[in-house]
Amino acid sequence: MKVDTLAIHGGFAGDGGSGASAVPICQTVSYAYKTAQALADAFAGRSPGYIYTRIANPTTTALESRLTEFEDGIGCVATSSGMAAIASAVMALVRAGDEIVAAAGIFGGTVSLFQNTLTRFGVKTTFVDVADTSNFADALDDKTKLIFIETIGNPRMDVPDIPAIAEIAHRAGIPLIVDNTVTTPAVFKPGEFGADIVVHSTSKFINGHGTAIGGAIIDAGNYNWREGPFDEIKNLSQRVGQLAFLWYLRNVIYRDLGGCPAPMNSFLLLQGLETLPGRMAKHCENAERLAQFLQAHPKVSWVNYPGLKTSRFHDRVTKLFAGRASGLLTFGLGDKEKAFEFIDSLKLAKNLANLGDAKTLVLHPASTIFGEFDADELGSMGVTADMVRVSVGIEDFEDIKADFEQAIERAFKEK
Ligand SMILES: Cc1ncc(COP(=O)(O)O)c(C=O)c1O
Repeated sequence: MKVDTLAIHGGFAGDGGSGASAVPICQTVSYAYKTAQALADAFAGRSPGYIYTRIANPTTTALESRLTEFEDGIGCVATSSGMAAIASAVMALVRAGDEIVAAAGIFGGTVSLFQNTLTRFGVKTTFVDVADTSNFADALDDKTKLIFIETIGNPRMDVPDIPAIAEIAHRAGIPLIVDNTVTTPAVFKPGEFGADIVVHSTSKFINGHGTAIGGAIIDAGNYNWREGPFDEIKNLSQRVGQLAFLWYLRNVIYRDLGGCPAPMNSFLLLQGLETLPGRMAKHCENAERLAQFLQAHPKVSWVNYPGLKTSRFHDRVTKLFAGRASGLLTFGLGDKEKAFEFIDSLKLAKNLANLGDAKTLVLHPASTIFGEFDADELGSMGVTADMVRVSVGIEDFEDIKADFEQAIERAFKEK
């Protein structure tokens, strides 16, 4: 199936029992079995069957199947949030004493997980600038167990050379994890370019309407789990083959950490997926037009959108994303006061901490999601005091432009 069809039909062929054409919301904690032996067999994995929604749920299974097909992967574990996906995927692979090499300028929550929480458990992370790919090879040592990058770093907007980084990871015998939240599989499939594990915050473009938090981990099928430095997964691979990572993730890490999605959220995320390709096309188009408008505006100090021809990442956007740079951009008006005045003057765009909604959203990153970091850290993450982040929605472009035009004028008005 082509992407537009897959978005609507993937992972669900209709409900055999009721004939429901929408995926039924299976709002249950547990699943009853007729005999004690049948439940014991399900627990022991001797027969297939749902046991408990913390491990698996039919509505969530439909979501996982659709996401697997979308990313051309071998399987998926859906989670309660993007952070649950990242934490679970990473915790399945590291132990105290291990190291991670990660892109600089990625989502603040992920930076905090790596820099604060995982450090407490004895796992060290080195953050490297993605502009020079050789930084990744230079940062690796024999303790490094994985490389973690975002397709387009949020909020630094850096685009890594994903195939080249995959090669570096594979030469070192370790997997590459790619956060595909900002691009989504409607624009880019990291697995086709060598990524081993794809993670998502499905709360963003996949949901698309700001109605459900969610996450997902997809095994792209590129990493050979029979080899590599992950003892538990390597042992399991003798029994379950290439599904060893996902099996270990679901039946050990995910089970123990408890980051399962609510069935209602899986339903909302499935609905979001149905319109994802069409929405992403419009997000990309509107963002490119808004970036060009802002770049030409005399009062705007700077604009960062990798789809702009002037961006140092434009070649990678062309090569990897066929020129579509998603719906996220940042820009500056010179100082924090003007950024605040601009945000306060908007009439259409919403000021909130999310991205990927159908609506245009703005945020002042330095005082909100990056508020916990000091000036040096903000500098290395590319977060400036005047930065406004925009998640460009799918409204009519002229209405978005008019709203930004009047808000910029007001930000510069003499008091
Ligand atoms: C790129 C990226 N990854 C992960 C996350 C975390 O996702 P969630 O908020 O669903 O936990 C976010 C949230 O903004 C994000 O932007």
